Amino acid sequence: MENPQTQALQTEAIRTQGISLPRLGLGTFRMQGDACRAAVESALKLGYRHIDTAEMYANEEAIGAALAASGVARQDLHITTKIWHENLAPDAIRKAFDASLKKLRIDQVDLYLVHWPSKNMNLPAIFETLMKLKEEGRTRAIGVANFTTALLKTVVDEIRAPIACDQVEYHVMLDQTPLRKYLSARSIPLVAYCPLAQGRVASDETLARIGKKHHASAAQVALKWLLDQDGVAAIPKASRAESQQTNLDALKVKLDDDDRSAIAALPKTMRCVNPGFAPAWD
Ligand SMILES: NC(=O)c1ccc[n+]([C@@H]2O[C@H](COP(=O)([O-])OP(=O)(O)OC[C@H]3O[C@@H](n4cnc5c(N)ncnc54)[C@H](OP(=O)(O)O)[C@@H]3O)[C@@H](O)[C@H]2O)c1
Repeated sequence: MENPQTQALQTEAIRTQGISLPRLGLGTFRMQGDACRAAVESALKLGYRHIDTAEMYANEEAIGAALAASGVARQDLHITTKIWHENLAPDAIRKAFDASLKKLRIDQVDLYLVHWPSKNMNLPAIFETLMKLKEEGRTRAIGVANFTTALLKTVVDEIRAPIACDQVEYHVMLDQTPLRKYLSARSIPLVAYCPLAQGRVASDETLARIGKKHHASAAQVALKWLLDQDGVAAIPKASRAESQQTNLDALKVKLDDDDRSAIAALPKTMRCVNPGFAPAWD
């Protein structure tokens, strides 16, 4: 009998480019070694089925060990990993991809993303290589992270690459309206990273007040605000089982119009991550 939380998470999945992306995943940046392995094992036990990693996080080995120990069937898991901006030449992509698969101990990833744009990247060559990896069945889908609408226009409208998501910073303290409009017009999901503004949302008074009304925490309110939006997934990082559970329970919070108006009125210019390699954000 499947864990009811897993069932709930599978229902809460977004179909995109042939894959089913659970809307709530576990972020793993700044978790490494045994601590990372323990956190991922705990999350899988609680019902998480979407794990977000990257070659740059230096934790794919620990995640591979957690996946192997979990006993969760591979087809029930969604694994995203990413290629670092220094490895965007076709040969380097293949080499990095092979290394990621080996460390993760799997023979296929669900989603392979370009982690950051780089100034001198050759977009047609990059996406030709990624599309080959997809055709070969080594990744089920491909996508991007930290891509502006200008870059997406090249990749989606000109190169016509089958992009399954753009993973960008998005939370209650940062507006992403223009990018969201572009993505939703093309049915491309936005995967929200730093969905808790790296923990800052927990001390926000407005969110705490809304949470009190619903017997929820400020962090849960921030997550549910994201997950209530069409085509938006979120990947909060939580190292402790207690926070992992709290974040899963955010799916049950019911926000009303007053809550949404109060959240809309929060200042929305706070970036936790500087998209240093990207041209101006629009
Ligand atoms: N594509 C990219 O360029 C990119 C960039 C940044 C992040 N990401 C991805 O997105 C993930 C999430 O972003 P992030 O890790 O930077 O920030 P985040 O998820 O917004 O915040 C993580 C922080 O919030 C804390 N936290 C977790 N659950 C909480 C709760 N219920 N109440 C209060 N605090 C809570 C965590 O605590 P603990 O420290 O105790 O765990 C941690 O300090 C990353 O892990 C990574 O997978 C991608």
